[in-house]
Amino acid sequence: MSIAPTRVLGTPVDRLEGRDKVEGRATYAYEHDIENVAYGTLVVSTVAKGRIRSIDGREALAEDGVLAVLTWEQAPKLPKAEGELAVLQSDRVAYRGQIVAVIVAESYEAARRAERLVRVEYGVEEHDVELRADHPTLYKPDKVNPQFPTDTEEGDVERGLREAVHSIDLTYTTPGYHNNAMEPHATLAFWEGEALTLYDSTQGAYAYSETIAQTFDLPRERVRVIARHVGGGFGSKGTPRPHVIATAIAARHVERPVKLAVTRQQMFALTGYRTPTIQRLQLGCDAEGRLTAIAHDVVEQTSTIDEFAEQTAVVTRMLYAAPNRRTTHRLARLDVPTPSWMRAPGECPGMYALESAMDELAREAGLDPIELRVRNDPAIDPESGHPFSTRNLVACLREGAERFGWRPGGRREGRTLVGMGVASSTYPARKRPSKAHARRNADGTFTVQVGAVDIGTGARTVLAQIAADTLEVPLERVHIEIGDSDFGNAPVAGGSAGTSSWGAAVVQACRVLLTGADEARVETEQSDEPLAKHAFGAQFVEVRVDVDTAEIRVPRVFGMFACGRILNPKTARSQFIGGMTMGIGMALLEQSRVDPRFGDVVNHDLAQYHVPVNADIADIEADWIDEDDPHVNPMGAKGIGEIGIVGTAAAVANAVHDATGVRIRDLPITSERLLPELRK
Ligand code: MOS
Repeated sequence: MSIAPTRVLGTPVDRLEGRDKVEGRATYAYEHDIENVAYGTLVVSTVAKGRIRSIDGREALAEDGVLAVLTWEQAPKLPKAEGELAVLQSDRVAYRGQIVAVIVAESYEAARRAERLVRVEYGVEEHDVELRADHPTLYKPDKVNPQFPTDTEEGDVERGLREAVHSIDLTYTTPGYHNNAMEPHATLAFWEGEALTLYDSTQGAYAYSETIAQTFDLPRERVRVIARHVGGGFGSKGTPRPHVIATAIAARHVERPVKLAVTRQQMFALTGYRTPTIQRLQLGCDAEGRLTAIAHDVVEQTSTIDEFAEQTAVVTRMLYAAPNRRTTHRLARLDVPTPSWMRAPGECPGMYALESAMDELAREAGLDPIELRVRNDPAIDPESGHPFSTRNLVACLREGAERFGWRPGGRREGRTLVGMGVASSTYPARKRPSKAHARRNADGTFTVQVGAVDIGTGARTVLAQIAADTLEVPLERVHIEIGDSDFGNAPVAGGSAGTSSWGAAVVQACRVLLTGADEARVETEQSDEPLAKHAFGAQFVEVRVDVDTAEIRVPRVFGMFACGRILNPKTARSQFIGGMTMGIGMALLEQSRVDPRFGDVVNHDLAQYHVPVNADIADIEADWIDEDDPHVNPMGAKGIGEIGIVGTAAAVANAVHDATGVRIRDLPITSERLLPELRK
């Protein structure tokens, strides 16, 4: 049931709000002009575990312009608050950087000054923040995110490995990563009686309204969350973070609007991160390169106050076929902030290990790494037994290789080692229930409202394109309104499911208008077709390594994707190459370095937490094969927000090995790690 005929869908429409953003007129959460607003800032714990023995805000409160200093002793009790959102609810400190006081002042400067005057004494307890494969707290969670079985087993992996002609048994590690969106987490909260309004930098206005209402024990309708423009999230704004609760508490206390932005340094404890992982991969194949066994055993971490179980090995269940397969997840409970979503949670770290391991097995077996993958491409989903709605991984590998000029083997040019790497990529293609509202206006235009959030992806623009095509009118006649929980249930901009889900609701609402109605309110349903729905892709990377310094440069990256119909090639390309850029960062630069003595991240700013900048990225391009998948949503599209990052780090690692003959299995691949190996 695809939309036809296409008019603006599939064309590179500029972002509708692009000009507003460039000219500084797009209003972000912190920038809303609200009368009588006060400024909130946070005092955070300087120990990783213990109790607050005493906390004294009197000196801070005496400062000029300071309106309130709230600690656990004055803050209202929130019996329904859970885990990290139980802000200022007790004297207990569960991680370093946890909120211990909120300051409210007439100016930002006064609030920051006052922070330093809050006297806190801690009863310090010994903390443990280091993930180890043999950590004594390791346990098996009941499920991994969001609802997957923790472990799976089919056949007998040990037998499959014994029968294999070629096999590997290797361990890969990834460090913690922080999302580091450009716009810091920020919120502006005000109460009108028992009703709370928040201008917030969020990926999900409606989902936030639900969680915040629950935390304050209010009916959902009493909490309104507005997010007109959001400067990135990468998952870290997919769930309300503690500062949102702190700000709402503060606004109620001073009976004024309060706005608060988390500082870059505070973000490293308060706004989520990707768990570090330790991943053991065992693969075996026969003489023809057919996998006889796949085992993927993961160790990762959660906190002492919440459970977050990253679904790291879940992707291994569906990517390649083998008669004997096993996946497991174990968590250590550490005195750390709770991990959370970061672009492609699960698939991203999991595919780094799996796709590195496939490369290593290909070399063992003397096969081209593309050929090994092609030989193990399953006809049906090995996990569920369901057919794939569409699966074009092989086409991405083959066509990508052609386009990239795939010639691995490594060569030396003077003092430079040159090599190529490839990896597969995949991400689930989801559609979630969503409401939408469409109205015909007297002037011949249409207004479409949907509780979507555009976190910089171009979602607003694409939704307008979807509405225009469904209504068969020019784009100029569609007014699209998003970013408001009052528009009703709509999923977060996450799981690469935003446009897929909101778009399906927009199509359904607009179709009602086509029947002659002036107004339509719809809600789409969850589909339960027995199909495995996933997007696929393949990344190709060329690296150049300096033999004297082991500096790694990435002159060329190409991604070939199969993600259903591409609704806007301009914004889609940005998603793909943005994801791949983040994957290069993961491979070579990014790592949240925890100092075990202090118990948190020491490189907690962008001067020390390195992400790729323009100088790090040279020729990067993405393209896609023609695919129209009618099973995910009526647009024929699959989500594209996350697949770009999945696989990229493995492709870089594989290229470094191709260039140097050295395999670094612990990310990031820094010169410090590579140089001693090059010298051997
Ligand atoms: Mo994404 S990590 O699903 O916001």
